Amino acid sequence: MRTWTPQKIRALKGVRRFATVTCYDSTSAAIVESLGPETIPLVLIGDSLGMTMQGHDSTLPVTMDEMVYHTRCVGRVLRTAFLLADLPFGAYQADDAEGLRNAFRLVKEGGADGVKIEGGERVVPLVRRLVEAGVPVCAHLGLTPQSCLAMGGFKVQGRDPEAAERLLRDARALESAGCFALVAEGVPAALGARLTAELKIPVIGIGAGNATDGQILVWQDFLGLNLGRVPKFVRRFGNLGEATQTALNDYAAAVASGDFPGPAESYS
Ligand code: KIV
Repeated sequence: MRTWTPQKIRALKGVRRFATVTCYDSTSAAIVESLGPETIPLVLIGDSLGMTMQGHDSTLPVTMDEMVYHTRCVGRVLRTAFLLADLPFGAYQADDAEGLRNAFRLVKEGGADGVKIEGGERVVPLVRRLVEAGVPVCAHLGLTPQSCLAMGGFKVQGRDPEAAERLLRDARALESAGCFALVAEGVPAALGARLTAELKIPVIGIGAGNATDGQILVWQDFLGLNLGRVPKFVRRFGNLGEATQTALNDYAAAVASGDFPGPAESYS
C-alpha cells in the first residue's frame, strides 16, 4: 500500500494546492520518489505515452498490454505517490464488463492504485461498478484526447454556455458515482474555477486555469524534453531537451578527440 490513498488526496481539497505529473518508466519514478512523500502526491501513467514514448500522433493506438507494462515499470519503484493508470481507448467503451476486467488488470498486473477514465454520464455505470468492486476511479472531462476523432482534433471544450453546463452536469454525476478526483483538461479558466468550486472532490487541471485544486503536466512537457511546439498551457520548468543535445555533442566530441575514456574511466 502506498502512502497516498484516495482519502488523503480528497483531504487536500481546500487545504493546499498540489502538483502531479505523468510518468512512464522507473528512472523517472525514482526521481519523483527521491523528493519524499509531500511534493508529488499522485503520478499518472497516462495513455499520453502513445505520443511521448511511442511517437504516435494521438493516444488512440495505445493497448492494454502497453498500459500494464508501463504501469508495472513505474509501480516497481514508486512507494509513496498514488499510482493512477489510464484505461486506454477501446478498453472500456464496448461494455462495462470489459472495462471492469481491464481495470482489474491495471491493479493486479500493473500495481495501480486506481484508474482514470475519460467521459461523462456515459461512463457513470462503469464508474459505479468499479467503485463497488473496490477500484478508486478518477474522472477525466473536457478535452478528452481519446475523443480527438469525434472532437475534430485537440480543441478546448466547454466554451459555450450549453457545453459548460453539460460538462458541469457530467462532473456532478461522476462525483455522485464515487470518483475520488477529476481531471479537467483544456477548458476555459472560468469553467475550471466553477468545477473546483462546485465539486467536493479535488479537480486536477491541465489547461484549465489556476483555480483548480491541483495541476498535472506531462513529464516531457514540463522538463522541456520536447524540442518542438508545446500546447499553450505548458510551462517548461526545465530545458532538458537542450541539455541532452549539449551532452550528446560533448560526448561525441570527446570520443572523436580521444579524450573519452580517460585514465580515470579505464581499468588498469
Ligand atoms: O494521458 C495523460 O497523460 C493524461 C493527462 C494529460 C491528464 O490524461
